[in-house]
Amino acid sequence: MTTTIFVCDTCRWTVADKTAPCGRTGGEILAAHVERLAAGLEGVEVRRQSCLMGCERHCNTAVCAPGKLSYVLGAFTPGEEAAAAVVAYACLHRDSETGQVPFRQWPKAVKGHFMARIPAIGGEG
Ligand code: FES
Repeated sequence: MTTTIFVCDTCRWTVADKTAPCGRTGGEILAAHVERLAAGLEGVEVRRQSCLMGCERHCNTAVCAPGKLSYVLGAFTPGEEAAAAVVAYACLHRDSETGQVPFRQWPKAVKGHFMARIPAIGGEG
């Protein structure tokens, strides 16, 4: 079953600035890193979503799959470290029957970034 990483592509670059000096939003930058790092991974896909309604704690992502718990993770600095952690977490989510991943397996850079857990809906369960 495929785990989808949604990345908000409209999240701010910083509290003060919507866009980075390059003109892209923080979300666009994070999304590009996540897309590159997840490219070719089996069972993991990336989609961009404009606003996950967690704007105060940018940059935001959501990790979801049918029939599994979903997680919203945010307040990331939009860079490679955060992207790598989200992709690594998504792989663990993909490999989990329920979507729950034991704390001891969490990539270090996702700790402190969980914003919500959403009960499973749909799927086969
Ligand atoms: S703009 Fe990213 S959560 Fe609203």
